[in-house]
Amino acid sequence: MRGMPKKKVEDTHEEEVPEGSGEVPADLLESVEEVFVEGGEGVDLTVLEGVGPTTAKKLTDAGFLTLESIALSSPVELSVASGVPESTAKKIIAAARKRLKIDVMTALEYYQQRKSVQRITTGSRGLDDLLGGGLETQAITEIYGPYGSGKTQLCHQIAVTVQLPPERGGLGKGAFYIDTEGTFRPERIVQIAERFGLDPESALKNILVARAYTSDHQMVVTEKAEPYLAGRNVGLVIVDSLISHFRGEYTGRETLAERQQKLNRYIHRLLRYAMAYNLAVLVTNQVVSEVGFVWGDPTKPAGGHVIGHGVTARLYIKRGKAGRRVIKLVKSPYLPEDQVEVAITEGGVVDV
Ligand SMILES: Nc1ncnc2c1ncn2[C@@H]1O[C@H](COP(=O)(O)OP(=O)(O)OP(=O)(O)O)[C@@H](O)[C@H]1O
Ligand SMILES: [Mg+2]
Repeated sequence: MRGMPKKKVEDTHEEEVPEGSGEVPADLLESVEEVFVEGGEGVDLTVLEGVGPTTAKKLTDAGFLTLESIALSSPVELSVASGVPESTAKKIIAAARKRLKIDVMTALEYYQQRKSVQRITTGSRGLDDLLGGGLETQAITEIYGPYGSGKTQLCHQIAVTVQLPPERGGLGKGAFYIDTEGTFRPERIVQIAERFGLDPESALKNILVARAYTSDHQMVVTEKAEPYLAGRNVGLVIVDSLISHFRGEYTGRETLAERQQKLNRYIHRLLRYAMAYNLAVLVTNQVVSEVGFVWGDPTKPAGGHVIGHGVTARLYIKRGKAGRRVIKLVKSPYLPEDQVEVAITEGGVVDV
């Protein structure tokens, strides 16, 4: 919420917390191409062993419309959504995976499959270079930093640049914006759209905005987003911010494990969306002060290992000299750590 003091809770002990179920197995993440090819839309789910018409309806009502969305989910998630016992959910997932022939692949096949990854320009040449060409689909990119550093500005900007045609670095698709802090401003979209020469009204129409008032609400809103992803041609899902409700609601040490499990389930869902719909996910995160800090930067991202492992790439943004912002790539599966300077103007984030 605007105006509420940001709590700087010391949660450096999060790493000791067992992270529970819901991890996406690495082998699954490496088989997107097959998933896309064979998954298809509106599949009859009763082809799966253990799924009768009733369960099929529950699954589709819960947003599991395709084989790939089931194959990429966890037993807990499926069980909660559809009401079937976890053991049955496990069998249904196994059946979906088998049908999709998700299996071992050679590095060459994996390389081929990576070619379906698309990139979205951030609107800053420097930041695009830092990210190896822009924001990747089939991945979660996190940007963390202190208040007022420009995280929300960047979210607004990429909600616009994703709409640019491919020859200008976009995907020609829309964005789904989950706003947990009430800081989404359509006026900013208008200004940024004008900078990029897009019609402001169409730019606004291509962004679906959902406000989330609590962490539970955030989970529900994100679940309900699924039918829109394919239906409304969404190329980017934004969660600004990923963690504020979780941090605000789960304050005691005794609730940390529960919080982390919930966060883990949440990130897992975002990752499934990214893979199943070949879209980019951009999340913002806050910083916490480091206990026993001696030198260097006294802050680190909130959320502990659950977020650290769950996201694909991680950016750190902070204020630099003369009102500029320094953006640092602190985690990437294949790019070197580096940093870039940008500025925030009326037209959005620009190179300096
Ligand atoms: N129209 C504008 N022109 C220039 N700069 C702007 C404009 N709008 C916002 N800014 C800059 O962006 C800053 C706010 O950044 P932003 O809201 O993205 O921060 P944040 O990282 O999301 O912070 P929080 O953690 O509080 O959500 C302002 O302090 C200002 O410096
Ligand atoms: Mg913000």
